[in-house]
Amino acid sequence: MIPKPSGSTSVNAGMGSASGWYRPLIEASEVRGRLRDKRVRKIDAVVSSSAGREPHEIVASGYDVVAEDYAKLEGAVEWPRMRWLHNVLAVLTPGSRVLDIGCGSGIPATREIAKEHDVVGVDVSARQIELARHNVPGAEFVQADIETLDFPQASLDAVVAFYVLDHLPRERHASVLERIHAWLKPGGLLLLTVETEDEPGVTGRWLGVEMFFSCFDADTTRRLIRNAGFEIVNDAVEIQIEGDKEVSYLWALGHTTPRAPAGSLNPDQ
Ligand SMILES: C[S@@+](CC[C@H](N)C(=O)[O-])C[C@H]1O[C@@H](n2cnc3c(N)ncnc32)[C@H](O)[C@@H]1O
Repeated sequence: MIPKPSGSTSVNAGMGSASGWYRPLIEASEVRGRLRDKRVRKIDAVVSSSAGREPHEIVASGYDVVAEDYAKLEGAVEWPRMRWLHNVLAVLTPGSRVLDIGCGSGIPATREIAKEHDVVGVDVSARQIELARHNVPGAEFVQADIETLDFPQASLDAVVAFYVLDHLPRERHASVLERIHAWLKPGGLLLLTVETEDEPGVTGRWLGVEMFFSCFDADTTRRLIRNAGFEIVNDAVEIQIEGDKEVSYLWALGHTTPRAPAGSLNPDQ
């Protein structure tokens, strides 16, 4: 069980009852109000033909070009990422084995994890991995599509995945979460953030390149996380500023529980 710091404020956007660990920059009710008023969309225009390329190819070649521009998207208002990450780092034993999926340039998250832990960063973009190896020389990095990679069962203490699941086709999100569950030790931690837009899959212009996005609404993602065998101990929907856009993300922190046998889960629950 993950201890929760005392004296914190309830911020849980989706679960209502659990007490959160901290106060978000924007309360959940305000998030919902803003989203009603304004359709939040990251891309500038839909690209009608991506020449038969697979999503991971579009994403990899896109980040190869915009890795540095992506890093500049986080402006004066810090994204929630480090606040959530510190909640995980606070409960991990030094030397824990941590996987950072879609680690990007390694800054800021992988670098922070590497201070006390044995971290492996995975990213599909060659340029991101090149930057990460330079930025965090003590960590291990692998250039790969997370869907093609495997880790030994029950070998990881924690997995973090910041802003990456929404680059994978959403019909595969459930299987990615199930594989992460298998890699984690009993009680292992998952910290995940993913956009909350109901988007079946689109390739659009983003930072001047083609980029693929696909995601579910927050309730569906919560359900997928639970169905994969995680108990969510804290979650919230938060808006962050990306350049001139406001983008809404679900943040979810959970730990593994024994998963129900395959086929016994009702996907609608
Ligand atoms: C929005 S960036 C996030 C980077 C970093 N996690 C952060 O917090 O800023 C998404 C990253 O995920 C990587 N990525 C996208 N799809 C991936 C996949 N299928 N396998 C591995 N990495 C992927 C991209 O190359 C990119 O570096």
